[in-house]
Amino acid sequence: DWTMAAYREEAIKTIREQVGDKQVICGLSGGVDSSVTAILLHEAIGDQLTCVFVDHGLLRLDEAEQVKTMFRENYNIKLIAADESDLFIGALEGVSDPEVKRKTIGKLFIDVFQKYANEIEGAEFLAQGTLYPDVIESVSFSGGPSVTIKSHHNVGGLPEKMGLKLVEPLRELFKDEVRELGRELGLPDSFIGRHPFPGPGLAIRCPGEITREKLEILRKADAVYIDQIRKHGLYDEIWQAFVAILPVRTVGVMGDGRTYDFACALRAVTSVDGMTADYYPFTHEFLGETATRIINEVKGINRVTYDITSKPPGTIEWE
Ligand code: XMP
Repeated sequence: DWTMAAYREEAIKTIREQVGDKQVICGLSGGVDSSVTAILLHEAIGDQLTCVFVDHGLLRLDEAEQVKTMFRENYNIKLIAADESDLFIGALEGVSDPEVKRKTIGKLFIDVFQKYANEIEGAEFLAQGTLYPDVIESVSFSGGPSVTIKSHHNVGGLPEKMGLKLVEPLRELFKDEVRELGRELGLPDSFIGRHPFPGPGLAIRCPGEITREKLEILRKADAVYIDQIRKHGLYDEIWQAFVAILPVRTVGVMGDGRTYDFACALRAVTSVDGMTADYYPFTHEFLGETATRIINEVKGINRVTYDITSKPPGTIEWE
């Protein structure tokens, strides 16, 4: 008779056996997966765990602060928090190819993570929030020449490079099970219910070249969109919702003047595990109201579109 409480006990036992009295590093992204991993590890091995949170400057509005507050105020977990946004944004300037973006971010992430991890004495393990679908996707799409759909690198390659052994306590779980485990571990519902957010962050929601200006516009538009979704009580019905800022300026009218600003696309999908997805059937009222709010409240955007592509053939993200 399988329960999440039993899974938790079992996972804690397994972690203790694997780790012994050694030190473990855990990369914290602020997402549900890495958070649940960290809290489970903390419960299993306490102060043998140190978390490293790298702010790559590609997070959503106020997200870095929220993560730090959450872990410092609610948990007694050792946390190294580093603002490396200038480094990442600088390296991404002029890059528009999605895979190059991922690789650039992945490589820098490894360098930066390694720098901070080196400060942790005697670390032998690296904990990662790898889920079952991550395992499947990387298996089923690898093998052929460049058939990897997207390099979900996150910290891929890091364990080898640092000579660390992997701890992956969520490897057998689907997203909904990770949430259940999070609840079991006492994480607040508001946190557990948060939509998934990709490792490369806003970089892949900014198709084409990334600029600080576009990132700033994107952050504001995304915050308005999510606010709308929450206000209409739709957040929990949706697997993932976000804005992508499009690499095109369009003409509009505002008062007596002509505008020439960015267009954006709203994305919202339902899904069970992220492997397939359907677009969310918002009402026209909702879409109209949201478009009006974004255009009125976010300087730099004068056109809003809604993406009605399902996965497959589309992907959830735009890149
Ligand atoms: P796609 O766009 O492939 O996304 O349909 C499926 C799920 O994976 C997330 N995603 C990523 N997560 N690094 C990540 O950590 C990535 O490079 C990446 N690309 C997509 C996406 O947000 C969705 O939840």
